[in-house]
Amino acid sequence: MRRQLLRWYGRHRRSLPWRAEPGERAEGYRVWVSEIMLQQTRVATVIPYYRRFLERFPDPAALARAPEAEVLAAWSGLGYYRRARQLQAAATIIVERYGGQFPLDAAAARALPGIGEYTAGAILSIAGGLRLAAVDGNGLRIACRLTRRALTLAQARALWAQWLAPRRAGEFNQAVMDLGATVCTPRGPRCEACPLRRVCRSRDHVPAVRPRPAARAVTADYGWLLGGGKAWLCQRSPAARQMSGLWELPTATPSEGATPLLILRHTITNSRITARVFRVRAPAGAGRWWSREQAFQAPLTGLARKMLLRLWPSPLALSLPAGKPAASFPGRARSQP
Ligand code: ADE
Repeated sequence: MRRQLLRWYGRHRRSLPWRAEPGERAEGYRVWVSEIMLQQTRVATVIPYYRRFLERFPDPAALARAPEAEVLAAWSGLGYYRRARQLQAAATIIVERYGGQFPLDAAAARALPGIGEYTAGAILSIAGGLRLAAVDGNGLRIACRLTRRALTLAQARALWAQWLAPRRAGEFNQAVMDLGATVCTPRGPRCEACPLRRVCRSRDHVPAVRPRPAARAVTADYGWLLGGGKAWLCQRSPAARQMSGLWELPTATPSEGATPLLILRHTITNSRITARVFRVRAPAGAGRWWSREQAFQAPLTGLARKMLLRLWPSPLALSLPAGKPAASFPGRARSQP
């Protein structure tokens, strides 16, 4: 099994910016940043963020000394902003305690904010060559299929720890990740292309998975106000459950029959948001004025960034006819059934 999987990985490994060349070992900081970004976010989404982040914060010291707003701005659009805050908190610890080098030691790594068992296993095996498995949802799914049993995550971890290639743990773990992403996918697995088909108890008969629960449809209304070339943006409460402290357009309540300037679709976690932006006349809420340049460097929510990209460069936004505002403050997102 190990040999088959590693041979397959040698031929089919994905070339990703955080990976070293075959036979070389990737650097701890680079692997750590990639693993944090890849928690809950797809590889294709992460790649451009990862490149920009590494350019702006090339090592733990650069990350530790940056203003938090800059780190959040670099994260803007990736979601789950707690990850960015914890990354920076951990970078500070790495500078203070480990001379600015990511600690390639299981206890030290696990003690850092934002690093759980999976992430520690991934970083330490890939960057440090430690004999640790890294079992996430992919690893669990593959183990369940291989054994044709409904395993718990703990059982799957124990199995992968036995199966692991001890001297090539990093490659082995990444092979499992790539297998899960390209062959043993949640829906429509390609058993005919699988290096493990000979040992797999489910081959060619993978049970259907439960369909993903439908995302909740939500409508959210926002206001757009420019004054003296600056836009009025509001800060989300530091106590908000999601995206706390980030900046966005103020919420608004449109008047009956008002026409939105802009309608955008945006998906986060389990919500499919239809966001409408209406012109408003007066500033309201916990906000301040931002120049265009400042705003694009601010820690914006992903949705706000999308809106500003559409609203601000456009002549539509800059040359609105004067008249009755289409919405009033304050307002809230409305939910549709
Ligand atoms: N998902 C989580 N970690 C990964 C990695 N190192 N490579 C590819 N996909 C991943």
